[in-house]
Amino acid sequence: MRNLILVIDEGTTSTRAMLFAADGTVLGSESAALTQHYPAPGLVEHDAAEIWARSLACARAMVAAAGGPGRIAAIGITNQRETILFWDKATGEPLCPAIVWQDRRTADTCRALREAGHEPSVQARTGLLLDPYFSASKIGWALDNWPQLRAAGERLAVGTVESWLVWKLTGGLHVSDATNASRTALMAIGSGGWDDGLCDLFGVPRTILPEIVDCAGQFGETAADLFGTPIPICGLAGDQQAATIGQACLSPGDTKATYGTGAFVLTATGARLPTSRNRLLATVAHQIDGRRHYALEGSVFVAGSLIKWLRDGLGLIAEAAETEALARSVADNGGVYLVPALSGLGAPWWEPEARGALSGLSFSAGRAHIVRAAAEAMAHQTHDLKTAFAADGADWARLRIDGGMAANDWIAQDLADMLAIPVERPAFVETTAMGAAMLAGVGAGLFPTLEDATAMRGATTGFEPALPADARTARLAGWQTAIAAVLPQ
Ligand code: G3P
Repeated sequence: MRNLILVIDEGTTSTRAMLFAADGTVLGSESAALTQHYPAPGLVEHDAAEIWARSLACARAMVAAAGGPGRIAAIGITNQRETILFWDKATGEPLCPAIVWQDRRTADTCRALREAGHEPSVQARTGLLLDPYFSASKIGWALDNWPQLRAAGERLAVGTVESWLVWKLTGGLHVSDATNASRTALMAIGSGGWDDGLCDLFGVPRTILPEIVDCAGQFGETAADLFGTPIPICGLAGDQQAATIGQACLSPGDTKATYGTGAFVLTATGARLPTSRNRLLATVAHQIDGRRHYALEGSVFVAGSLIKWLRDGLGLIAEAAETEALARSVADNGGVYLVPALSGLGAPWWEPEARGALSGLSFSAGRAHIVRAAAEAMAHQTHDLKTAFAADGADWARLRIDGGMAANDWIAQDLADMLAIPVERPAFVETTAMGAAMLAGVGAGLFPTLEDATAMRGATTGFEPALPADARTARLAGWQTAIAAVLPQ
């Protein structure tokens, strides 16, 4: 009986496949690390062939775990957003490196466009701002700097990661779902189609772009040679939108924060397209039957990657889990603050050239204080977002958290303390994959609606604010001083 759902969750640092039963039970998981290429400071690239090979290997492991492709009703795909890939339609092979969302190579282009006065119209049309984070300026850069792309002529295909994976899985379907397309800065967010004016602005021929499709439906089947029997692909969404669905944030005001490589907060606004006056983003939350639901988003570029850097870059910890015990081992941060602007600052600052800072060091500061300062930075950055959301009239009453770092009880409690609101965490923190499973379940007809699919979400744990107001105020004042020091004067 075909009643299982296979999810491919392709993130920034790893790709994984997960197998779900329709009641939300996780039946298996397989993951593989992805190589991060840093050709120069501020540049971050991935190998598209590696993304495909490792994602396929993980998916094959889950097909085996399911007992064969005949047990799988649908595939759902979710992915790191904005990262852009270029391939040859004739060979299906990548033509150049994938440019990752963290890559800042187009900071100058974006600044020039801002200075030329284009930001208000880009924001009105896309919900986004002029920042290298989004795909459009990177596509323009690649076309200008990698001659093999223009040389490919009509054979050139461009897409975000879900688009690449669907192309490879189906053997040639060129589509992108509306959530991923909404992150390129080329899609008119109100109409859901590519915008010719934006394509001109960024120098991107519309013909190289995929067709924009819904997030749930029958998109195509896997090529017969991949898994034995074809499996339908029924769910597609960017990872932050998938996590929003996985957290059952479907009603206006419902808010989730995912602490993965970066930290991304989305507040659902339903069918209403939000407008931010405080440098937040409007984004497509999901599109089903051509109807778009929207969200207001705050994107923080460095979260889990900071802990990874403490481990791999500084050697301060041997494994990420140590952060919890180290943070608890000291009474407070000892005056130490860490501003994790390692790849610039995202919302609400949008300073691609800002760099990180460690401040307040004294001889009494030890390893535990620095690790605690890193852990505290999660709540500090989230607090900055909460302030911007509130100023946009979308303050949070409670926050649903997920992602690998949300499993850290100290960080979960610190978020409740510093935000002064209840924080809720599902037992299963990989809600990104869960959300993709829900979409695929809807697309495959296992659930009539997305609301019905959210029954897959399991039990949650609550964290209540407990920090005295004066301690909270003092910590926030210290953070504000620290971040002011890295912002341009
Ligand atoms: O916008 C970037 C985001 O999609 C990356 O997600 O899970 O790799 O932190 P993640």
